[in-house]
Amino acid sequence: MAYQVNAYVHAVEAPPISEAMTWISPSPQNRALINLCQAVPSYPPAPALQDHVARMAQQPETSLYTDISGLPELRSALAGHMAQAYGGSVDARDVIVAAGCNQAFCVAMMALAKPGDNVIVPSPYYFNHQMWLTMQGIEVRSIPAIGMDGPSLDPAAAADVMDDRTRAIVLVSPNNPTGAVLPSETLESFFDLARTRRIALVIDETYKDFRDGRDPPHRLFQKADWRDVFVQLYSFSKVYALTGYRVGSIIAGPHLIGEIEKIMDCVAICAPRIGQLAALFGLEALGEWKEEKRRLMASRLTALRAAMTLPGLTYGLVSAGAYFAYVRHPFEHTPGKEVARRLAREHNLLCLPGSMFGPGQERYLRLAFANVDSDLMPDMASRLLESQSAR
Ligand SMILES: Cc1ncc(COP(=O)(O)O)c(C=O)c1O
Repeated sequence: MAYQVNAYVHAVEAPPISEAMTWISPSPQNRALINLCQAVPSYPPAPALQDHVARMAQQPETSLYTDISGLPELRSALAGHMAQAYGGSVDARDVIVAAGCNQAFCVAMMALAKPGDNVIVPSPYYFNHQMWLTMQGIEVRSIPAIGMDGPSLDPAAAADVMDDRTRAIVLVSPNNPTGAVLPSETLESFFDLARTRRIALVIDETYKDFRDGRDPPHRLFQKADWRDVFVQLYSFSKVYALTGYRVGSIIAGPHLIGEIEKIMDCVAICAPRIGQLAALFGLEALGEWKEEKRRLMASRLTALRAAMTLPGLTYGLVSAGAYFAYVRHPFEHTPGKEVARRLAREHNLLCLPGSMFGPGQERYLRLAFANVDSDLMPDMASRLLESQSAR
């Protein structure tokens, strides 16, 4: 008999995106797949960034490790960027660079909680958050994040499920999977709750650059004591189309950064240097390119909203923003996974069922629309409509 595997890891479902990929089948009508499955930018990195990376690859030191917490120039540039964007105080010492925001989450949570502790995670959640916590033996306590008519998130609901083993509240804004952008006031009330309970407020801001408007996403970095409460996670994957370069970051107080360094030293030693150089170039030189891509995503969102008003369509748009739309499907008695599978097999539309994002999400589908050009949105809506009559 083979050896045993870690029961906590074994208990976690297989990676959802890989499962969804198996649903794709050739179209009987020979039409192209509309892929709304994974949040990947549909365009390459900026040409100037690609040239820079090619030049950097020629430098002998590019092949070397960096400091555990990342290149000093990148930590400093990111601190400056966040200080400016949020009107707050962030220092290079508050920053640790990770190999992507998923790793940032894993190492931050490992530093915050141990097996038997619990963490508050609104549902629907970003599935990798739930997967990692469960693998660590950390209990996920979910609170509802979708009300009757769209996203709503109540700090009182979080307070109700806390106990003395609660170590953190985890939020994602702009949200994956709903696209909802949490108002600054909501984030502040969660900050106040976390401060009172002396736990961490962890916010994954992977999609912050795709928000509308120029106001800072929140004012938490303006608070004198933010380092005692707030942990910000960020990704360079989406903003500079660098998903394969693996760069993300954690911004936190020194007591947490010190613990995370120990973990990073063991799991990665450092984030890939070439990725860090690419991220630094992005921060220093790609302001305009980034704004152009933000506008492109906003135009896709507008096109999606318009497409979802197709007469007769009984799929309802519940929430949308940044990279994602969350849609209520019309099949009351069919599990969400079955609806998504049929959309893939019979209508060549690939998306993820809400059930992959937590309890109580059977009626929903996530459309990762950032992958799809605006002119395909009407076709997407027609395929949804077609799925109604095919049943
Ligand atoms: C909310 C959220 N956090 C983190 C990630 C992963 O980011 P990275 O590529 O930097 O690991 C994603 C990717 O889809 C995401 O949606």
